[in-house]
Amino acid sequence: MKFLITAGPTREALDPVRYISNRSSGKMGYAIAAAAAENGHEVVLVSGPVSLPVPQNVICCPVTTAEDMLKAVQSNVDWCDVLVMAAAVADWRPKQVADRKWKKRLGPPQIEWEMTPDILSVVSKIKKTNQVFWGFAAETTNVREEALAKLHDKKLDAIVMNDVSRHDVGFEVDDNQITILFSSGAEIPLPKMSKMDCARHLVEKIAAENKNKKN
Ligand code: PMT
Repeated sequence: MKFLITAGPTREALDPVRYISNRSSGKMGYAIAAAAAENGHEVVLVSGPVSLPVPQNVICCPVTTAEDMLKAVQSNVDWCDVLVMAAAVADWRPKQVADRKWKKRLGPPQIEWEMTPDILSVVSKIKKTNQVFWGFAAETTNVREEALAKLHDKKLDAIVMNDVSRHDVGFEVDDNQITILFSSGAEIPLPKMSKMDCARHLVEKIAAENKNKKN
């Protein structure tokens, strides 16, 4: 199978020296890429700025902004059987990027924000019936309700819910505790385990779902 996987944060420039981003380390997405490649799948990994080595047998497209990530996903989405969006994409960016460094003596800058493109919503419009699209939901409150709303709104086959208010799982650390929510209403809760083991479970479930779609 052909896997297109996104990982890591995006960065949105404020001025030539500053940006807004988030705490994603890329560990979860890179683990999924490694697990898929380990199982003999072809893998393209679209990665935001992280400090991780590219797993063996994985082709990596490095990107910086949400707009870059959208373009890289759009360029590869027709090729893939499976899209897994594990990246933490910035939801807002400054409407205008200052061309010079803001000076401290002028006080805090007034920033006008605009939404970044929602990558999953854009590509779900061109999704083929035999493709499988999975997203992640990183939530701190009403975790389940918010994840189910994203599953529905982004027209996904499944969403991997993780509670990022916890310090022992989620962002940056080596472990995660996930529940997979399927569009059919089925769900698979998994205990806390390493991101690599989570990734192996995910790849196994995705392969099973892809097989069902093809039959
Ligand atoms: O990278 P790590 O440190 O290992 O941490 C892993 C993780 C917590 C980042 C990962 O497990 C995770 O939850 N990734 C998704 C984070 C996120 O952006 O969630 P969200 O609830 O904001 O977005 C929901 C889904 O829409 C995600 O699949 C996201 O990739 C996608 N999205 C979001 C915004 C946007 N503009 N376009 C999108 O497609």
